[in-house]
Amino acid sequence: MTGGLYLLHLSLHGLVRGTSPELGRDPDTGGQVTYVLELVRALARSAGVARVDLVTRLVEDPAAGPDYAVPEEALAGTARLVRLPFGPRRYLRKELLWPHLPALVDRCVEYLRAQERLPHLIHSHYADAGYVGVRLSQLLGIPLVHTGHSLGRTKRSRLLAGGRLESSLERQFRFTHRVAAEEEVLENARLVLASTRQEVEEQWGEYENFRPGRFAVVPPGVDTSRFSPPFPIRARTSFSAVDRWLRDPHLPLVLAISRPSPKKNLPALVEAFGRDPALRERANLAIFPGVRDDVATTEEEARGVFTDLLLAADRHDLWGSIALPKTHTPEEVPEIYRVAARRRGVFVNPALTEPFGLTILEAAASGLPVVATADGGPREILANCRNGLLVDPRDVDALSQALREALSDSARWSQWSRNGLRRVHDTYSWDGHVERYLALCTRLLRRERKALRRRHAALGATPLARLADASHLLVTDIDDTLIGDEEALARLLLWRAANAPRVAFGVATGRSFARTLEVLDTWKVPVPDVLVTSVGTEIRFTPDLKPDKAWEGHIRHGWRREEVIRALAGAPGMKKQPAVNDGPFKASWDVLPGRNVDLEGVRRLLRARGLAARLVFSQGKFLDVLPVRASKGLAVRFLALRLGLPLESFLVAGDSGNDLEMLVGDTMAVVVGNHKPELEELRGRDRVYFASASFAGGILEGIGHYRFAMEDPC
Ligand code: GLC
Ligand code: MG
Repeated sequence: MTGGLYLLHLSLHGLVRGTSPELGRDPDTGGQVTYVLELVRALARSAGVARVDLVTRLVEDPAAGPDYAVPEEALAGTARLVRLPFGPRRYLRKELLWPHLPALVDRCVEYLRAQERLPHLIHSHYADAGYVGVRLSQLLGIPLVHTGHSLGRTKRSRLLAGGRLESSLERQFRFTHRVAAEEEVLENARLVLASTRQEVEEQWGEYENFRPGRFAVVPPGVDTSRFSPPFPIRARTSFSAVDRWLRDPHLPLVLAISRPSPKKNLPALVEAFGRDPALRERANLAIFPGVRDDVATTEEEARGVFTDLLLAADRHDLWGSIALPKTHTPEEVPEIYRVAARRRGVFVNPALTEPFGLTILEAAASGLPVVATADGGPREILANCRNGLLVDPRDVDALSQALREALSDSARWSQWSRNGLRRVHDTYSWDGHVERYLALCTRLLRRERKALRRRHAALGATPLARLADASHLLVTDIDDTLIGDEEALARLLLWRAANAPRVAFGVATGRSFARTLEVLDTWKVPVPDVLVTSVGTEIRFTPDLKPDKAWEGHIRHGWRREEVIRALAGAPGMKKQPAVNDGPFKASWDVLPGRNVDLEGVRRLLRARGLAARLVFSQGKFLDVLPVRASKGLAVRFLALRLGLPLESFLVAGDSGNDLEMLVGDTMAVVVGNHKPELEELRGRDRVYFASASFAGGILEGIGHYRFAMEDPC
């Protein structure tokens, strides 16, 4: 790879900044933020990497502070943080980002269009970024790498087992979106990175699209330039943030640091400590549960954790042996571990589940032994590091006992401390991580070389000279949108004639090319400038009207039409549409009247034969199966790239399911008054206008609403 790799990382939620990231400030600003910042910094140090962009959300919110509204922040060397706005300006917790992610896809395309070249790889972190990464990868043909960080199915099962109701969970956590995004990532990513074997087998293993061959276990590193043992090791120092809470600050310190999330199980630790008189006599407890201001006005989940902690401490009257500092800065964290190490204490991670547990490595790097939950991450780390004890986090007595035991034998304590220090350097360094990461990426890119060359040909720097006079493009569905009302259509065609060539005119339809020309002729619609037919699988421009080769080359990826048709031959409740309706990149079925199509069942049939495809369901009766890289929405985005026009200069209109994904994002979208119920879910979205007029009348109403392509009077 001449010149080194250009990597685009996406990590969207939380408050991300390079200097003193505010870890624990809210439930979304925690381990993942540390992970991505340290990863991109380590990548930037590597000779094989020419450039790393870390894309996150731009937040303009006085409550968050001005740093998060800065569009670009230098991180280190060739790494930079790029903040792109999407959705409302204010800060949103991650569960509320879903409806705004399509806009980010478009914002990323715009950003990339302005760069000198396209990235070699897109790497998404967590389900929300995965959603965006999948679409960017499909659109640009850039391979996707993904890291889950934590998984929806795992969390949902745990909460259901804990007695929560499905419906209330959905409201709070939006698992439907999250799990769907994760499934889609598994279908589309070329490589999924996990921190432990267990994460692959027990967590990702629960997913329908799980294929073990796509995974690699590469544990993250710990920043050993920050986390290091105290020197001299036994000095009696004070640390006022902790000590002002304590009667005898020099007792061994039992330490926990985590986000204020219920799954971190911190109140159980207070309980274990409070119930055990021997422990209370022999040690102090310090918990750093993130940062809190006024608990009464804190967001719900964190408020619950703070309240439980304070109440448990009070119940056992631990005042004098427990420290619950209200705030701490990231700069203080290494020193906090060192204080506990000097006092020959122990670090505790009592989380209910812990896919990795970076804090355990930070403790180890500080020479502090650990007591940790007997779950995936800690199991593997402790097997490697041999620096402490595992415990069942649901068993409070076992927790007390483990703590007592860990503090009881001074020689063993020293052995654990040494073990941890040595093994962290050998196994868990970021430079080691990056070396393995780059080896995997290079291998993947070698396999993709041909496809990448095609991509450059398809999306190459020169936009199409055709339609050079157009600054705007109107793209409309045909059946029940453009046509249906003769009088309104006549008015729309007049508008079109009056605004050409400044506004180009396009259709995007489920019909085949031949049946498109037929219907346009019947309704006396002049041939459009752009024809997107067969549900986005074919793109044509006037005057030659040949299918665009670049689009074909792009969407062909992974498409095996004949096998799709064979796989679905016996699918219940559906009947194959006649061959004239199909195209080389589309196969369609009618859903039999009165039957519900079982989309999951269809997906399973395809997956069983290793076939990747996109399913588009519309009008309650049509099922189209397409290449994953094709849809009306992706075709529109491809047009934007080919024509060199921003998506804001597109007006798109439709009425049914196969229009759905063309209607979300940065384009100006119009849903006509006579739309099918399938589109109701778009109500309230940004830039989706629900017209009251029907058919072409709805389009005209939308043009007026957006003042589309109207020149500013000056
Ligand atoms: C058009 C096509 C048909 C497709 C439907 C939905 O009617 O002719 O094949 O299934 O649109 O996209
Ligand atoms: Mg239609």
